[in-house]
Amino acid sequence: MNDFRRQWDDVRDDALRAFDAVGRSGWYILGSRVREFEQALGASWGLAHAVGVASGLDAIELVLRAAGMRPGDRVLTTPLSAFATTLAIVRAGGIPVFCDTTETGLIDLDEARATLRAMPGIRYFVPVHLYGFPLDSAGLRSLIDEFDLICIEDCAQSIGAEEGGIATGLQGVAAVTSFYPTKNLGAMGDGGAVLTADPSLAERIRCLRDYGQTAKYKHSEIGLNSRLDEVHAALLSGAFLPRLAGWTERRREIAVRYLRHWKSEKVRPVAPEGWGSSGWRPCWHLFPVRVSAREKASLMAWLRGEGIGTGEHYPILIPNQEAMRTVSNSCFGSLERAERLSAEELSLPIHPYLMDEEVDQVLAAIERWEQGMRVPVGE
Ligand SMILES: Cc1ncc(COP(=O)(O)O)c(C=O)c1O
Repeated sequence: MNDFRRQWDDVRDDALRAFDAVGRSGWYILGSRVREFEQALGASWGLAHAVGVASGLDAIELVLRAAGMRPGDRVLTTPLSAFATTLAIVRAGGIPVFCDTTETGLIDLDEARATLRAMPGIRYFVPVHLYGFPLDSAGLRSLIDEFDLICIEDCAQSIGAEEGGIATGLQGVAAVTSFYPTKNLGAMGDGGAVLTADPSLAERIRCLRDYGQTAKYKHSEIGLNSRLDEVHAALLSGAFLPRLAGWTERRREIAVRYLRHWKSEKVRPVAPEGWGSSGWRPCWHLFPVRVSAREKASLMAWLRGEGIGTGEHYPILIPNQEAMRTVSNSCFGSLERAERLSAEELSLPIHPYLMDEEVDQVLAAIERWEQGMRVPVGE
């Protein structure tokens, strides 16, 4: 699914230089490297303020708290995402409310509207641009305006994605992202960021990420230790961020190769038909496909046997996770589409260092599986 050794061969010189510069500076926490990276990230995203934090999970929690969410407030979100999206809401004291997704796995904005009508008083909204597929920005804007929502866009998977020329993350009060190594802009460890146009929100998050400290040893509120460290900031700005645009283009090329050469009938890409014609430009964090739930394990085992890794995003809906039994949450209506996609989805390899021949091998392996050369699981 990823090849970090190929990545290291490429970034090594820049990464070692960045690391050396931090060592020589003698300053490891909240110094000039974090500030430089924040500036570069904000400029590349078109948002004035970026705040580096310890993870994408913390980024969501910190924005919810900084934006005034109170314990017991309900927060509308998607049932199909990394668990962290909901965990952040729970950690901030919120009560997650889930509604169904579309067939492409993104929160269904019509269902979200129906939920907000049926449950008046919900002010907070955390949609996810899952798989790197951008949500419809005009639809998102009109929902935010209609219900006066405080929207935090989970862009952990969508850095570089845009729709109608508009980047994800520009409709809400803030965009949050993650630098977990597998992400499109991944560090060599954990990290995350909040991006916003609102200077006071950014300032409050800077304070909260550093123990709620406004000046040395002066604490105005109860914060966290959630700082992006200098080493990661230096690696990100010196080695990874300058490559991001090229990496995104390569992901797009790979996706186009998969889609153009697609033959299988039983296995279908999750991307919507006509995806390429409408200004819808995913950053292809993942290349999700679906197959009947009955045959998914067989296909995954077959691909594994051919040396091809796959993933599942995500096999258990968040409200069905065992951990959710212990916390208040609710679902609006049926989550039928999300349930079905979760049962049927698997993700094929897509990353900037994947070669065309490898994409062709994946396609050929799927075709052979379909032609009946399948290994039944368990036999
Ligand atoms: C959609 C989404 N939101 C949030 C997160 C959490 O990010 P992190 O792993 O940096 O805490 C992730 C990554 O796992 C993610 O994919």
